[in-house]
Amino acid sequence: MTNEIRIGIIGTGGIAGSHVRQLKSIPGIKIVGGADIVPGKAAEFFQRYEVADAKAFEDYRELLALDIDAVTICTYNQQHYQPTIDSLKAGKHVLLEKPMSVTLNESIDMVRLAKQTSKILSIGFQSRYNPLLIKARELVQSGLLGQVYYVETGGGRRRGIPGRTFVFKDKAGGGAVLDIGCYSIDTAMYVLNHPKPLTVSACLSNHFGTSPIYSKRAAYGGVNPEKFDVDDFGAAMIRLEGGLCFMFKMAWAMHMDTLGPTMWLGTEAGLKFDEGLTLYHDQAEVEAQTQLAVPATRRVEWWEHKVRDFVTAVRENKEAPIPATEVLYTQAILDGIYRSAELQQEVAVEIPEDLLLR
Ligand SMILES: NC(=O)c1ccc[n+]([C@@H]2O[C@H](COP(=O)([O-])OP(=O)(O)OC[C@H]3O[C@@H](n4cnc5c(N)ncnc54)[C@H](O)[C@@H]3O)[C@@H](O)[C@H]2O)c1
Repeated sequence: MTNEIRIGIIGTGGIAGSHVRQLKSIPGIKIVGGADIVPGKAAEFFQRYEVADAKAFEDYRELLALDIDAVTICTYNQQHYQPTIDSLKAGKHVLLEKPMSVTLNESIDMVRLAKQTSKILSIGFQSRYNPLLIKARELVQSGLLGQVYYVETGGGRRRGIPGRTFVFKDKAGGGAVLDIGCYSIDTAMYVLNHPKPLTVSACLSNHFGTSPIYSKRAAYGGVNPEKFDVDDFGAAMIRLEGGLCFMFKMAWAMHMDTLGPTMWLGTEAGLKFDEGLTLYHDQAEVEAQTQLAVPATRRVEWWEHKVRDFVTAVRENKEAPIPATEVLYTQAILDGIYRSAELQQEVAVEIPEDLLLR
């Protein structure tokens, strides 16, 4: 018989639904309650997802006063910091949605507090469970590519400004770069096993979100262009330790289908990551290209892993499955991108000595 894990949910908006669906499917979980600052929203949420006896609050501190082991934090980005700090201080383990925070200083505080309190702080990158990403990491870390000297992330959306709370700086903290750029930075860094970032030089723009013409269309979020105050495009060059160069590009909207694949270039081989994984290498001094066979899984399975592994870590007193200590490096780069774009010059990235992974 597994011991019951008692969980609360902070922020009962869009993505909290995915959390509750997964939590409900795990045996031995009790969803004790949730909180949302919008009056009545948490109660309506638990009714919709048929969570019997769940207590609903407007102030998450009332939830934290209950006998619960852990919380999942699903608030918008500007409200990741304080609920995480308060939850850790209240002795709860935390599964926090991506991006970890808006500023690097916030992430630093969170990681230090999780260490001090010996609580789990796991970040919601379900992308870490993509078998293609896992394979890419395995190959790069095996040394197959030789010395990796370049990484580039691509993707992006041609039409896909999310609207809602995502396009206002006071709620989201940033736009496309923070919202979906965090995935591609995490992907690049995870495969490379988190080399230390040194400097960032970045440009940001928001030509689509602020356009009176484009903003009328649904795919542009349906937001008043005068109120749109975040980026919908960003590009950066990041210097990583060991002479590694990282080119980053991201868009919520653009006149292009994609900003290209994600790739790692090494002295012995190159690896391309898009819908599949392709290895570029030489065989008997002839250029070869091998499509790697990696069984695909559905995104919903990545979600299952993300929530289940967190619960298992809480139950078995294990390390965070998607450690905030690693994601701190992604946040350091994101923070550098926003600072560099603001200053219009290259900036240094500083991770405190006590939080370096190596
Ligand atoms: N992992 C993923 O695939 C994924 C997908 C979508 C969103 N997200 C992330 O999840 C977070 C939430 O996104 P969403 O789409 O659910 O946004 P949302 O705006 O629909 O929901 C956020 C909710 O948090 C509530 N809230 C804000 N501050 C609060 C506070 N202090 N206490 C209690 N409730 C508070 C809001 O009222 C709102 O209901 C964002 O950080 C986003 O980046 C992750």
